[in-house]
Amino acid sequence: MTHCSEAQNLKAYDAIIIGAPVYAGKWKAEAGTFVKNNADLLKVIPHAYFMVGTSFDGKASPAEMRAILAKERELCPPVSEGRFMGRLDYSRLNVFQRMICKMMKAPEGDFRDWKAISEWTRETVQLLGVRG
Ligand SMILES: Cc1cc2nc3c(=O)[nH]c(=O)nc-3n(C[C@H](O)[C@H](O)[C@H](O)COP(=O)(O)O)c2cc1C
Repeated sequence: MTHCSEAQNLKAYDAIIIGAPVYAGKWKAEAGTFVKNNADLLKVIPHAYFMVGTSFDGKASPAEMRAILAKERELCPPVSEGRFMGRLDYSRLNVFQRMICKMMKAPEGDFRDWKAISEWTRETVQLLGVRG
């Protein structure tokens, strides 16, 4: 696993999975920029996207969820998209972030579903055509 700001020589990869949290209804900017900057390569390297948030337990509508990766999906269509519940610890947020989360009534806690994450990863590795 590599942070997208440190990923180099993408041509050497057989497949790529790009994941990031959602903040205020948008995929984290670095991930979107990574896709944009590497679009030519991602058009030929099999890849998948995933996002993590605290509204994917039925709070966000299908349309809202689809809108989050709309640009990336159009630019470089992935073999699969994953959406997972994340975690939120208000004590680790700055004042601004805490204010946004309170306004959104974002629930505090660790909601990660490791079984769902493992299943998606296994299926996605197959779709990417690489050995797990
Ligand atoms: C300022 C802020 C805004 C957020 N906005 C959203 C949101 O719009 N939709 C959502 O599903 N989750 C939202 N979340 C929840 C995060 O996506 C979730 O806590 C995620 O697990 C954070 O990942 P990280 O710990 O790797 O940053 C927000 C969290 C913060 C702190």
